Amino acid sequence: MTDRELLNLARSAAESAYAPYSRFKVGAALECAGGRVFTGCNVENSALGSTMCAERVALFKAISEGERHFSRIAIYGESEDYCMPCGACRQVLSEFSQDMEVLCAKASGGYVSYKLRSLLPHAFRLGSY
Ligand code: THU
Repeated sequence: MTDRELLNLARSAAESAYAPYSRFKVGAALECAGGRVFTGCNVENSALGSTMCAERVALFKAISEGERHFSRIAIYGESEDYCMPCGACRQVLSEFSQDMEVLCAKASGGYVSYKLRSLLPHAFRLGSY
């Protein structure tokens, strides 16, 4: 799958976003090492702290289906600027694959690509200090 195809899946996933509070729809498409793709969208809640990001929805879907290794994640936000993963998502993704590529798209279609490791150097791990 090309980067552009994965980004298109992320953009489609954003259409399912439940974001009545921020009005900011996010979609993610997570590619597993074996090629399966899981998508996710942000799911907000009136108790705002109970909101879940698109990236973690995609990751938790994949983990719950037995996947553990990931090669890329595409993130699409309806914003003028590139939609970068929040700190919590960087930490949770890094639990599994620090070398995955993170494709960050903006509404107009452009994207930037990073290694997860470069977005969260020295990620927390139990017992790593
Ligand atoms: N959001 C994501 O889905 N992913 C991120 O990495 C950052 C933020 C969502 C959460 C919330 O629904 C909305 O964007 C505004 O913060």
